[in-house]
Amino acid sequence: MTASGTSGTKGEIENLRRSERVLDHLGAFVTKGVTLEPRLGNPQQRLVETRTGCINSIGLQNSGAKVFMAEELPRMAAYGLPLIVNISAGSVEEFGQLAAFLSERDTGLISGLEINVSCPNIREGGMAFGTNPKLVEKIVKTVRKATGGRYVIITKLTPNITDITVPARAAIAGGTDALSMINTVRGMAINIETRKPLLGNVQGGLSGPAIKPIGLAMVYQCFKSIPECNDRRVPIVGIGGITYWQDALEYIMAGATAVGIGTAWFVDTDVFAEIATGMQSYLKKHNFTIEQLIGIVHRVNG
Ligand SMILES: Cc1cc2nc3c(=O)[nH]c(=O)nc-3n(C[C@H](O)[C@H](O)[C@H](O)COP(=O)(O)O)c2cc1C
Repeated sequence: MTASGTSGTKGEIENLRRSERVLDHLGAFVTKGVTLEPRLGNPQQRLVETRTGCINSIGLQNSGAKVFMAEELPRMAAYGLPLIVNISAGSVEEFGQLAAFLSERDTGLISGLEINVSCPNIREGGMAFGTNPKLVEKIVKTVRKATGGRYVIITKLTPNITDITVPARAAIAGGTDALSMINTVRGMAINIETRKPLLGNVQGGLSGPAIKPIGLAMVYQCFKSIPECNDRRVPIVGIGGITYWQDALEYIMAGATAVGIGTAWFVDTDVFAEIATGMQSYLKKHNFTIEQLIGIVHRVNG
């Protein structure tokens, strides 16, 4: 899957169809975060490259739910992929309103909603939700109720917390169908010539290769200690720093059932194809099915 916010809203990814490799190797398209009202996002500069990834503070810039449903979603439907809409809001009630708005206007184009309770870049809500288990449970319940069980609900968790299993369990208590992890890790960068922070928002979220071990450990932890994850009633989408097919396999072996890719795709538009074909070759070489590999590291270690 694409990782939310990294593959455009205006058909950017489809422009790469010419290479015949991009959409063919994706299992689903996850949209940029959508909010009820349009958002201008944070002040520039909003993206900084680091030695091992990037830090962004986009601040959920988007055209709002109305334009999304009227213009962007129909365009994305042309990709021919299951569409998962990443949603953000400033309160529990607003999450409910947004989910209801999307559901009421959806003509069958949306397959699932990914609830972003983990954005580090907005002042109201965002990550503050994701670190409060009571709120996580309430948001998931509210979204599920507002959509009448019509969609697969994925809850996206923040790594900026001591124990990720706490919000994970709360999302499950609220009725999430799946979990995705991780969102970005809080970070910053300073321009030593101006002696000022590089990002307009001062701090942002780190993504890319630097965060892979963090995401991997969190998937491992949830799979190991949460029964619903372990028996895959609540599957995990592993996200964070996946750059090569080996990274994707590590996530699968730690317990992920699917993977999401963001920053790597900024660098190499062939990344989806390379990861999919690399994994297939590994399975063939070692005579495994992907099913057999999900969480295998737990079984090997007893
Ligand atoms: C520019 C940018 C925008 C993002 N926007 C969103 C967003 O709108 N909603 C969300 O849940 N995550 C968002 N993310 C987080 C990614 O979906 C992903 O969780 C994170 O980047 C880690 O994956 P990666 O290392 O493969 O990029 C964004 C990431 C980047 C780099």
